[in-house]
Amino acid sequence: MIQIKENISLKPFNSFGIDVLAKQFCTVRSFNEVQALLEWNKTKNSPLLILGGGSNLLFTKDYNGLVLQNALKGIELVKEDNEYYFVKAMAGENWHQFVSYCVQMQYQGIENMSLIPGNIGASPMQNIGAYGVEVKDVIESVEAIQISDGAIVSFDNKACEFGYRESIFKHQMRNQFIIVSVLFKLRKTPVYNTSYGNIEQELMNMKAAPSIKAISDAVIRIRQRKLPDPTKIGNAGSFFKNPIIPTVLYNELKKAHASIPGFAVQNGLHTKVPAAWLIEQSGWKGFRAGDAGCYPLQPLVLVNYGHATGVEIFNLSTQIIEKVKVEFGIELEREVNIY
Ligand code: EPU
Repeated sequence: MIQIKENISLKPFNSFGIDVLAKQFCTVRSFNEVQALLEWNKTKNSPLLILGGGSNLLFTKDYNGLVLQNALKGIELVKEDNEYYFVKAMAGENWHQFVSYCVQMQYQGIENMSLIPGNIGASPMQNIGAYGVEVKDVIESVEAIQISDGAIVSFDNKACEFGYRESIFKHQMRNQFIIVSVLFKLRKTPVYNTSYGNIEQELMNMKAAPSIKAISDAVIRIRQRKLPDPTKIGNAGSFFKNPIIPTVLYNELKKAHASIPGFAVQNGLHTKVPAAWLIEQSGWKGFRAGDAGCYPLQPLVLVNYGHATGVEIFNLSTQIIEKVKVEFGIELEREVNIY
């Protein structure tokens, strides 16, 4: 039985901790409940917002529609071959709990993405990634319900059109599907990825050889040092994407700013520049106005120190974008979804 609540505060359901109301709110725990809710909404025709962990969005006003909280649960080893375990996780499972489960079971491939906030259902949506690994590297397929007719559709990895923090679900298929489960392809014989950032250094500090568990622990230690815990300080992880600019432009910038970091992508034709560096150089690192701020340890993360409104955080992001544009001619793009 689905239960539709009215005028519910969304504060507990978004990691920024923004206090806005949803006109209608419903938690769904099974396929049948999703289908029943879609059926109900046919007569109402309310705008629909699919909520997972609420860790990649910013509410700037009340949501004048129906919020569907996706709480489908379950993890299942579907099949295995000589090289891989194929593990299906339902969309409402917490991402980090799933990573911990895989670490414990020795299913290898997602340990670098330990402690990313949010749920399984959002992972393909924005192709989450950290420490040299993106979820697209381990996704076999995604199962989703088509909102228009309730049909179940499977997308293989290619059909998801993954890119850096991008997928078909954010673009052509936006608001057309509800992701119900993700099938992951995880290795039996590990192929570790320790080259990004200071993972190797952290393993040395821990006096640990690379293993699934040790890498997961190293990532957890690094993240806990640099990133604010959303249960203590409201945030949605990286607020902006790292901009990818033509390498010719990067080389020009390097003449004026010798220390600008850059990582070659797309055969060297383009360069990814850390937004954190651009924001810090533009003077925003540690900035705070009221309860809205730019986190002092990682300026890519905007935070709510308590009672900031979504508009205050949004306005801060606009000011940052404008200043970075003036200083470097680069237009930062928000990674967080704004409502
Ligand atoms: N940097 C600064 N000042 C700072 C911090 C960083 O200049 O205070 C510069 C440095 O040059 C550093 C570079 O930024 O080398 C990169 O920093 P970091 O390795 O911390 O990663 P990031 O590029 O800022 C990305 C992801 C994070 C992910 C980390 C680690 C995006 C938008 N963000 O951040 O993802 O955890 O790499 O892999 O790609 C998220 O998406 O929510 C998220 C946290």
